[in-house]
Amino acid sequence: MIQMAVLGFGTVGSGVVEIIEQNAHRIERAVPEGLHVKYILDIRDFPDSPYGDRVVHDLDIILNDPEVRLVCETMGGKEPARTFTQKALERGISVCTSNKELVAAFGPSLLKTAREHNCSYLFEASVGGGIPLLDTLLSNLAQEDITSVTGILNGTTNYILTKMESEGADYKEVLSRAQAMGYAERNPAADVEGHDAGRKIAILSSLITGKNVGYEEIHVEGITGVTMDDIKAADELGYGIKLLGRCCVTEEGLEVITAPFCVKKSHPLYPVRDVFNAVLVHGNMVDDIMLYGRGAGKLPTGSAVVSDLIQMARADKPLVIRWDEEPMELVPFGMQKHCFWLRVENSIVDRVLALFTDSTELLHQDFSDFTVIMTGPVREDDFAQRTAGVEGILSVLRILES
Ligand SMILES: NC(=O)c1ccc[n+]([C@@H]2O[C@H](COP(=O)([O-])OP(=O)(O)OC[C@H]3O[C@@H](n4cnc5c(N)ncnc54)[C@H](OP(=O)(O)O)[C@@H]3O)[C@@H](O)[C@H]2O)c1
Repeated sequence: MIQMAVLGFGTVGSGVVEIIEQNAHRIERAVPEGLHVKYILDIRDFPDSPYGDRVVHDLDIILNDPEVRLVCETMGGKEPARTFTQKALERGISVCTSNKELVAAFGPSLLKTAREHNCSYLFEASVGGGIPLLDTLLSNLAQEDITSVTGILNGTTNYILTKMESEGADYKEVLSRAQAMGYAERNPAADVEGHDAGRKIAILSSLITGKNVGYEEIHVEGITGVTMDDIKAADELGYGIKLLGRCCVTEEGLEVITAPFCVKKSHPLYPVRDVFNAVLVHGNMVDDIMLYGRGAGKLPTGSAVVSDLIQMARADKPLVIRWDEEPMELVPFGMQKHCFWLRVENSIVDRVLALFTDSTELLHQDFSDFTVIMTGPVREDDFAQRTAGVEGILSVLRILES
């Protein structure tokens, strides 16, 4: 059997162990020797778990056991996950992870360590949970020039926005419900402020370019400012509001953004509801492909981790992912062009319309308490300049063009 260790026996780590035990017969079709979890590293003991006797608290027990060939890191956070991963790779032990925070911050350097020590570092579960997304991009779409990736990459925010739309409940109420149901963390900032989706689009952008797209370089907005009035008005005008991570190759270069967008009801991402994730990829040969599934959860995420373990167990040489440390130059945020959605007080409609007379697709719709104005493509810095100091703008969103 191929011996392995799980670092972090929480939601995802316990899912990994469960899948390896429960689906052993399936896994053996791909890895005839079978996978065996020899150690589980955690801070706590798990006396009531059937796997409690495998729990250790000292990483060196794992690193010093020559039988251990694979490790999955499902602890989360930057440290000590980074140090533990680094140490395992330096011993030539292949590592896979669901830890997007670590991958977004240290992906290229950990991949370099893996290359230098003839082992692999994989992170399928770090983006899109159970959706087989990264391997699809890196293997099945390796022949493609990927020109855009647009995704609903965070289940918590998609759940909140979906419930606001379908039940007319306000943001705070839905957030508390999401927390009670375990869909949102007690401190939801990483999700609702867009950082989680931002990290994921940084990883995707890095993988499609092969260079490093730093998470801090990306413009990130969350959903905390989205109101019921925005959602209702969008609905009436044939749109839904979705938090999107988007990277797009334009004539100016690579544009990356995470923000709430108005998405037309006819768009394939519109029907993606609740905690589901979906990613629309455009390749220059294959055209559009959409991948859809559960973006989080013990078993879906565990399944993606196990798929990495299977790949690493089957490989007779290290699996190479091209993601260099060289920074990828992005189109500065101010130069990105978007179509804007402004919800404004009725008293300033003419003033705002006058700001965008040169905008080709200027539309406006009068609701009783406010008006929605939709512009054609305008540069971000230009938009900010034109609207600076205008009082009575209630909200600003972007509109997803096809
Ligand atoms: N949950 C999901 O659906 C999901 C989906 C996709 C990706 N992810 C990512 O997967 C990673 C794990 O998430 P999770 O939800 O499984 O987290 P979790 O439930 O908090 O599990 C983490 C486990 O690691 C243990 N741990 C923390 N620090 C440790 C250390 N220094 N040494 C040993 N064990 C340590 C924790 O122990 P304590 O509980 O005692 O702290 C806990 O048992 C995160 O990066 C997360 O972002 C999660």
